[in-house]
Amino acid sequence: MSHKSLNAGLAGINAGETSISTVGKEGVGLRYRGYAIEDLAQHASFEEVCFLLLYKTLPDKGKLCEFRERLREKRYLPTDIKTILQHLPANSHPMDVLRTGVSVLGCLEPETYNNNQNEISERLLAILPSILFYWYHYHRSGKEVITDVKDNSLAGYFLQLLHNEPADINHKAILNKSLILYAEHEFNASTFAARVTASTLSDFNSAVCAAIGTLRGPLHGGANEATMELLEKFQTPDEAEKGIKDALEKKQVIMGFGHRVYKKNDPRSPIMKQCAQTLSMTTGDSHYMPVAENIEKVMWDKKKLFPNLDFYSAVAYHLMNIQVALFTPVFVCSRLSGWAAHIIEQRKNNKLIRPNAYYIGPDPKNYIPIEDR
Ligand code: ACO
Repeated sequence: MSHKSLNAGLAGINAGETSISTVGKEGVGLRYRGYAIEDLAQHASFEEVCFLLLYKTLPDKGKLCEFRERLREKRYLPTDIKTILQHLPANSHPMDVLRTGVSVLGCLEPETYNNNQNEISERLLAILPSILFYWYHYHRSGKEVITDVKDNSLAGYFLQLLHNEPADINHKAILNKSLILYAEHEFNASTFAARVTASTLSDFNSAVCAAIGTLRGPLHGGANEATMELLEKFQTPDEAEKGIKDALEKKQVIMGFGHRVYKKNDPRSPIMKQCAQTLSMTTGDSHYMPVAENIEKVMWDKKKLFPNLDFYSAVAYHLMNIQVALFTPVFVCSRLSGWAAHIIEQRKNNKLIRPNAYYIGPDPKNYIPIEDR
């Protein structure tokens, strides 16, 4: 076996230890600190899951209430962040806006001995929607967002800032599930980027910036946006079937399918599919679900590939009237909880992450002075 097939993309390599989540030895399930994702999605709130990831245990009612209040209080935006957000181009990608916002916050509220990493994690969890929607509304209507919102759930806060009205209760419940499903996934690329940055003893916000930049790509979190662009191409399920078959013949990658660690199915996907089905019924959609389901069928028949979490998330977000460019930012608002837990874990037992490389460059050469070349 050549060195390339051994570890291309670090596939199959255990790059460290974690007690935060596992996809199981067989790679068929997903558990956060021992709890099955199916149970959490069905019964828990996103805030409960954040607490679990950050503080290693499920909160009781009192602790959850305090945690939610702390998050609500930490939503405010410093004036200097607002000024910088005003100066970002209106056509920036919202992922770049979030990355910049986190970076600016790292200047305004730098990590010190006084603000411990749990406080920074909570501040970031709370402020991300404020950053996103301050920029979003300022450049669309010139109006400032009101961050002092009563709703103390992240799903409700996000939807209220987006639509400028209290969140629809059903949409809030579905977004809550989606945030839980996106919250954590062991050594995925963005989390690994955060851990690499943390392993150099860099600051918390730098690690989060690295993670946001890594999540943005369409092979990772950006796949939910790319999926929507794919779905928009087809008017009917038959058109979708033909289009996907043609694309596969041309060896194109179909966004929202396949996964590095799951080989048979993504356990999060059926939960999100059910949410998309519910929304399809309640909104009277007769287009997106049939197109999506036909693509799923063709991908299974032709390639034995299954939809990953991003595929039906795209359908669900669209049916909740969330703009495509905000799909991956939703992922950020959720995954911040997992990144934070990993940064804290990495720091607790730190070892610089610095692998070797197989050298494939030229043999040794003698240097030729510039005047002799
Ligand atoms: N469409 C078409 N073919 C695919 C797809 C796909 N979405 N995914 C995998 N394959 C094929 C590859 O072409 C390859 O075929 P080959 O062996 O004939 O060359 C084989 O399946 C293995 O795929 P790799 O790309 O080598 O698998 P890898 O583990 O490196 O990649 C990845 C995983 C990046 C997720 C890949 O499946 C992909 O590109 N999917 C589309 C992007 C996507 O949806 N990303 C979201 C990931 S989930 C998340 O971030 C929540």
